[in-house]
Amino acid sequence: MRGLRKEYGALRVFDCVNLEVAEREIVALVGPSGCGKTTLLRCIDGLIPADGEVSVDGEIVREPRSGIAMVFQHFGLFPWKTVYDNVAYGLRMAGVDRAEIARRVPHFINLVGLSGFEKAYPYQLSGGMQQRCGLARALAVDPRVLLMDEPFAAVDAQTREILQFELLRIWERQPTTMLFVTHSIEEAVLMGDRVVVLKGRPSRIHEEIVVDLPRPRSRATLTLPRFAELRERVWSTLMSEAKKAEFQIGS
Ligand SMILES: Nc1ncnc2c1ncn2[C@@H]1O[C@H](COP(=O)(O)OP(=O)(O)O)[C@@H](O)[C@H]1O
Ligand SMILES: [Mg+2]
Repeated sequence: MRGLRKEYGALRVFDCVNLEVAEREIVALVGPSGCGKTTLLRCIDGLIPADGEVSVDGEIVREPRSGIAMVFQHFGLFPWKTVYDNVAYGLRMAGVDRAEIARRVPHFINLVGLSGFEKAYPYQLSGGMQQRCGLARALAVDPRVLLMDEPFAAVDAQTREILQFELLRIWERQPTTMLFVTHSIEEAVLMGDRVVVLKGRPSRIHEEIVVDLPRPRSRATLTLPRFAELRERVWSTLMSEAKKAEFQIGS
């Protein structure tokens, strides 16, 4: 992203966003509600226009293109399609031939732990299983860039924890460039190589925090003193303005 700016009429959502994500890097994007995280992902995906430049592999993004996949907060599955057909959807759209689809779909269903549920419909699945399906669908197209918008926000806390570690395991097997939005500071530090803090009105990248924790990451990562340090660092960056606002109310 170079000098990226987005306006909705008089509302300038973000401005001067410059961010480079390296191949196989995981970048976690955090910021207060309404600061434009979802909007930024949609601009990167080419779903909505913005001023400035987004490029992937040196190619400017002007519309949705192959190679970029999105995982949505509310799963974004087709309720009338089975797990198999939801996962196959992107491949069919991309014109991948039947034999290749029949080879890839079971692989990705297995990768996310949904084997045996190929014929199930989304309403028959728990939230966690639906998001596994959303993840399989995104991974099946073998994306160069995986965008995730609060992918675990709609599942319960235990499921969320399971899915975080599953995603890390999948990434270890198949490292993909990832940019994901989360409102969980712990999740950002656990998963990311870098945490990018977006804030202000219009919002800008306020700080980038390098997460120098070793990989593979696991539950043990959560107990490292360095993990706690980084979490506090992200927290104070994110909260400094919220605190200021709080004190303004009293004066
Ligand atoms: N289609 C739209 N038209 C007008 N304003 C929008 C639209 N989408 C989002 N916004 C506004 O842009 C701002 C950023 O929204 P969003 O990207 O959803 O924030 P976040 O994901 O960080 O919570 C909000 O003020 C929101 O009301
Ligand atoms: Mg959002």
